[in-house]
Amino acid sequence: MIIKSFLLLCLALNVCLAGKAGIIRPCRFYDRKCIADNLKANSRCTPIVRGFVPNQYTIRNVRFEAPFFNASFIDRSLTIRNHDKCRISEFYYNVPTDSLVLSVDCPNLVLESNRTLIQHRSKQEDSCYNYHICGTYPLIRLTAHIRDADKLDLCSSFVFGDVTELPIFAINPLDKKTQNFLSRDLTLLNVFERECIFYRAHFLMCYFINSLYCNFGCN
Ligand SMILES: *[C@@H]1O[C@H](CO)[C@@H](O)[C@H](O)[C@H]1NC(C)=O
Ligand SMILES: *[C@@H]1O[C@H](CO)[C@@H](O)[C@H](O)[C@H]1NC(C)=O
Repeated sequence: MIIKSFLLLCLALNVCLAGKAGIIRPCRFYDRKCIADNLKANSRCTPIVRGFVPNQYTIRNVRFEAPFFNASFIDRSLTIRNHDKCRISEFYYNVPTDSLVLSVDCPNLVLESNRTLIQHRSKQEDSCYNYHICGTYPLIRLTAHIRDADKLDLCSSFVFGDVTELPIFAINPLDKKTQNFLSRDLTLLNVFERECIFYRAHFLMCYFINSLYCNFGCN
C-alpha cells in the first residue's frame, strides 16, 4: 500500500516536513539514506549501488533528434563532467494523485563532444557536419513525475530537463564544410539546447539515482 510504506518511514524518522494537504516530504533533501530507504520501500529498486558518480566519464555514440532543426545529432564521444555535483532539490509524495516528484539540480554540468550533425531535407540526401563542442551549463534541473507511488519505476518515467540558463560554449568545426555551415547565426541556440537536454535528462537522472540512492536497473 502506497500510503503505509512511505508514511511509516516518515513517522519512524520523525522528519516529515509539513506541507499542503496530501503533500508529504518524508526526507531532508541532503539525507541520502532517508531518500534511498523511501525509494526502496516503494519500488523494486535494489539498495546495492555503486556509491559514487565519477567527476568525469565518457560515453560513446549517443544520438538525439532535434525536430525543430530538421536534424539528428550523434555524440561520437560525449564526456560529462561535474555530474557528481548534482543534488536532490525536490522530493515529495502527492497522496491524492499517487505520485512522487523528484528533482535534481546539476550546477556547472559540462558536456564535451565530438559531434556529427545530420541535416535532413525533403527529397534530398542528408548532409553531415562534424564539430567539437564543449558547453558548460550553469544549472540543469531534472524533474521526474513518477506515478504509482507504491510501485515507483524511474526507468519508464519521463524525465524533464530544464536548461535554466544558456550554456557557455565553444565550438570548433572539424572540417571546412562544417566551418561554413556553422557560420550561421546562433540566435536559435536556446531552442537547440532545450531539445538536446530533453534527450539527455533521462540518462542523467537515472545514472545519478541508480549510482547513489537505489538501483532501478536502467543504463
Ligand atoms: C525545417 O524544415 C522546414 C521545411 O523545409 C523549414 O521551413 C524550416 O525552416 C526548417 N527548420 C530550420 C530550423 O531550419
Ligand atoms: C575528437 O576529435 C578530435 C579531432 O578529430 C580528436 O583529436 C580527438 O581525440 C577526439 N576526441 C575524442 C574524445 O574522441
